[in-house]
Amino acid sequence: MKKSFFYGVMLCLIVGCQSQPIAFDANKELNYCTLQVHKALQTLQTADSCYDYTMEPRNILEGETTWNCRKVAANEWCSGFWPGVLWMDYAAQVKNEKVKSEDVDLLRKVAEGYTEAIVPIISQPVYDHDLGFITINSFLKGYEATGNERYKQLALQAADSLATLFNDKAGTILSWPRHVKDYGGHNTIMDNMMNLELLLWASQEVKNEKVKSDKWKEIAVRHAETTMKNHFREDGSCYHVVIYDTIDGHFIKGMTHQGYADSSMWSRGQSWAIYGYTMVYRFTKDKCFLDFAQKVTDIYLKRLKETSDDWVPLWDMDIPEMKNERVKSEKLKDASAACVVASALLELCQYVDAEKGKNYREAAIAMLRDLSTDRYQSRDKNVAFLMHSTGHHPAGSEIDASIIYADYYYLEALLKIADIEYGAASF
Ligand code: GLY
Repeated sequence: MKKSFFYGVMLCLIVGCQSQPIAFDANKELNYCTLQVHKALQTLQTADSCYDYTMEPRNILEGETTWNCRKVAANEWCSGFWPGVLWMDYAAQVKNEKVKSEDVDLLRKVAEGYTEAIVPIISQPVYDHDLGFITINSFLKGYEATGNERYKQLALQAADSLATLFNDKAGTILSWPRHVKDYGGHNTIMDNMMNLELLLWASQEVKNEKVKSDKWKEIAVRHAETTMKNHFREDGSCYHVVIYDTIDGHFIKGMTHQGYADSSMWSRGQSWAIYGYTMVYRFTKDKCFLDFAQKVTDIYLKRLKETSDDWVPLWDMDIPEMKNERVKSEKLKDASAACVVASALLELCQYVDAEKGKNYREAAIAMLRDLSTDRYQSRDKNVAFLMHSTGHHPAGSEIDASIIYADYYYLEALLKIADIEYGAASF
């Protein structure tokens, strides 16, 4: 055997053993995201080439090309997603020697500007559970990217504030204080699972202040346990909202708010459950949360296969349109739910046994592959990353739209793949 052929075969075997076949080019899609971020930043510039940092991108409706922005506020739950997109893009770019330093500097400048606009919310009394979304995506992502101690302190202050919504009798955080009267009790929504991350992270950060640390962890764990008990049907699908008695905390009923029906599977609600329980396991290492994360994932994947023509779900898996055949219309899809699930599965796949891990990982990649086609990517149509998300279908709002949180979780998932396959987010 010729020496060069022998070495060639050996090299193939070694490479073949070490790496999985690259089924999806995450770097290509990350470059696409960076391009869209820069396009968006151009459109967000004011006449004097500055930015109004108090106006955060929220959605791009059908036929529009640029972000509709909303004023940063405690009652604007999406306030943190755009700063989060900028911080993630910055964190990836700063490691890339090929990127021009002025582009990296611009990203950092605008990420800081949009994050700073959120600061006044922290000193206000907590409006609702969304304080978690607002601060995890801005301050925590900023802290991860820069180590800026001020962001950490602001996030700790937010955790303290969020904890005040906990109702010890019900065993959960009050998600929407403004709806207690009309819903007839203490309400908790599935989305609230996501915001436990702020408390669990904060609990770890203040380990030396035992009373505070234990309290925040206990609140998060009790919320997750109570939700596990009351928010799910036998098959693992969830209600969007659960109402508890305000005084003695007993379960009154499960219902929907953004889904098709009380008994239906609202796709984004289920995606919050998948991500939420995976994240709670990350912090607690309690196997009951890991088992539950798999249960809520498995029913989602089963129903997805039954109802959708690809890996992106319908906005609700029980809408009448899917009764007779798998629905093909993008108008009925919710790309944001697919992004949340893909990001969650790329974490969950690392906690479970090898075979299940492989299935979850492949499912996540299949979701990202579909999302990265011209069916979902906005490309030249608008400055977002993705199209075809559904915000609040029953209210007729943000239907078939680009929505900022879809972009946020899409980028987060892409960066996780880059971490897994190519080393820390290198391009
Ligand atoms: N947290 C609100 C939503 O998922 O639309």
